[in-house]
Amino acid sequence: MEKDWYKRMCFYQIWIRSFYDGNGDGIGDLYGVYEKLSYIKSLGVDGIWFSPLYPSPNADYGYDISDYRNIHPDYGNLTIFRKVLSHAHELGLKVIMDLVVNHTSDEHPWFIESKKSRDNEYSDYYIWRDGKHGKLPNNWDSLFEGKAWEYVPERDQYYLHIFAKKQPDLNMDNPKVRQEVKDIMRFWLDMGVDGFREDVITFISKKDGLPNGLSFIPIANGMPHYKDGPHIHEYLEEFRQVCDEYDCFQLGEGPMTTTKSALSYMAGESKTLDLMFHFDHMMADCLFTEYIQRPFRLKRLKKAFSKWQHALAGKAWNTLYLENHDHPRIISRYGSEEYIRESGTMLAVCYLFQQGTPFIYQGQEIGMTNIRLKSIDQYIDVSSKNNYHTFHVKDSIEKRMERIHASSRDSSRTPMQWDDTENAGFTTGKPWFYVNPNYVDINVKREEQEADSILNFYRKCLAFRKQSDVALWGNYREYYKHSGKIYMYEREWQGNYLLVICSFAKHPVSFRFPKSEREKDWKLELCNYQDTSVEEGIREMKLREYEARVYSSVN
Ligand code: GLC
Ligand code: CA
Repeated sequence: MEKDWYKRMCFYQIWIRSFYDGNGDGIGDLYGVYEKLSYIKSLGVDGIWFSPLYPSPNADYGYDISDYRNIHPDYGNLTIFRKVLSHAHELGLKVIMDLVVNHTSDEHPWFIESKKSRDNEYSDYYIWRDGKHGKLPNNWDSLFEGKAWEYVPERDQYYLHIFAKKQPDLNMDNPKVRQEVKDIMRFWLDMGVDGFREDVITFISKKDGLPNGLSFIPIANGMPHYKDGPHIHEYLEEFRQVCDEYDCFQLGEGPMTTTKSALSYMAGESKTLDLMFHFDHMMADCLFTEYIQRPFRLKRLKKAFSKWQHALAGKAWNTLYLENHDHPRIISRYGSEEYIRESGTMLAVCYLFQQGTPFIYQGQEIGMTNIRLKSIDQYIDVSSKNNYHTFHVKDSIEKRMERIHASSRDSSRTPMQWDDTENAGFTTGKPWFYVNPNYVDINVKREEQEADSILNFYRKCLAFRKQSDVALWGNYREYYKHSGKIYMYEREWQGNYLLVICSFAKHPVSFRFPKSEREKDWKLELCNYQDTSVEEGIREMKLREYEARVYSSVN
C-alpha cells in the first residue's frame, strides 16, 4: 500500500524555544505548545514538525543532541511530550520529529567515551583520523566554524565535524551506529510519532579515504565528498525498513540537492525518502548561503519553483516552504516590510497552490519580519557569528551588520508574537532572546480580530486548498516566465483549472491575460485585496502592489 496521506497535508513547524512559554521561565516549552494546540489546529494544518526537543547543550540550538531518548528539561519531559502527542492526535494532527543523526553533541555519552581512547566500545562511533605530517587529515572546512577537524590529545587524533566543533560527525559506516539510529527511530515510533524530518541526511555517508576538496571553494570545499556519498542509499534503505513497520513517513533535508539527486531518493523502486527539502528557491537573493547576498530576482525564484514542479511531476512529491528556522523571514527577503500585509499574503498564495506538501513556520502565518540587532555580540547563532568573522572582514562594521540583518538565522528565531502586551505575550518572565519590537502591530491577537489579516488569509488559503482536487493533484504550467514582476501559474486536473496570479511589484502593474485563458469561465476564489470585482479585466489585468489572486474554472 502506498503511504500517501502526507500528500494531502500541510505542516506547521515549531521551533520550540521561541514558540510559547507555558511556565514563565522565559523559554518556550511543551506546556506552551499544549496550550496552543487549538490555535495550531485553527490554522487548518494537519500536522506539526518539531525542530529538536531533545537534551542539548544548544551549541546549535537543539541540532547538537546529547540524549536522543529524552526531552530537554527547558522544554518539559516525556510525560508532557506524551500529553502533547496524544492531544495532537485527538485533534487530528500528525506529529513528526527531527532526526539528527549526521552528528551528535560532543557532550553525548558516546562521544565522551569515544574520545577517551582508540580502543573502547565507542571509539569507532565517530570519524577519527591521524594528522598528516603534522597537519590536519584533509583540507575540508566546516560549514559553521573554521576547519572541519578538531584535535583530541587523549587519542592523539582529530575528529571530523562538518558543522560546529561541538557537533562531531557520526561514523555511519559502523553498523553499530546504524543500529543505534534504528533503535532511536523505534523508540519514538513506538511512542506514536508519525514520521521524521531527517536533518542533513544526504551527508551521512562520506567518501572512502576522505579526499581533499577543491581549496578555492570556501566553507563547502568538502561537500562533493560527503553529499550523496557512496553508501547513502544502503543506509537509508535500512532506516526505511524501520519506517515501513509503522505507518510513518520520512522527509529528508538535502542541502544543495539537485532534482536529479532528489529523484534518486524519492522515485523509483527503492524509494528511501518520501519527501525532501531542497534549497533552490531560497537562493533568489543570495548565492549558496544567505550571507552572500545579491539583489532579489523574481525570475530566479520562478525558475526554481518551476524546475521542481516539472522535474517531480508524476515521479515524486514536492515539499513547499518559504521559511524555517534556518532562513531569515520571507517578507523581509522576497516581499516588502513597507507592504507587510500585501506581500505576506501574496507570498502565501505564490507557494501554497503549487503541487506538494506545504510547510508553514511559526510566525510566518502572521507576517513576522527580520529583527535588526545593533551589535554582532547580540547575535547567538554559531553560523552567523562565523560568517561575520570570516567573510568580507575588511568591510565597514555597518556593511557587515547589514549582511547579518539580512542573513542571520536569529532573524527567524525571535519569540512568537502572540499579543501586544509586554514581551509579545510570549512569556510572563524574561524572554530568553530579543522580541521583535514590531510585535505591537504584528501579533496573533490583533490578526484574529481583523478579517483581512495575514493570519486569516492563511486560513482561507488552507481551507480552499484542502477541498480542491485541482490544488492537490493538478498539473502545473507556468505563464509569463520572463516577467520580472508577475508570477502566474495554472493547475489543471480532469478538465478543471486554477489560475494563480501574483505580483511581486511595489507598484501597480498591468498585463494582458494569456490568450489561451481568455475563453474560460473564471471565478475569483481568493484575493488579498478586498475590493476586487470578479468581472474586471479578464483580457487586460491591473494588479495593485503585491496583489495576488486565485481563480477557478470548472468544466
Ligand atoms: C540543518 C538544520 C540546521 C542545523 C544543521 C546542522 O540544516 O536545519 O538548523 O544547524 O542542520 O544540524
Ligand atoms: Ca518555559
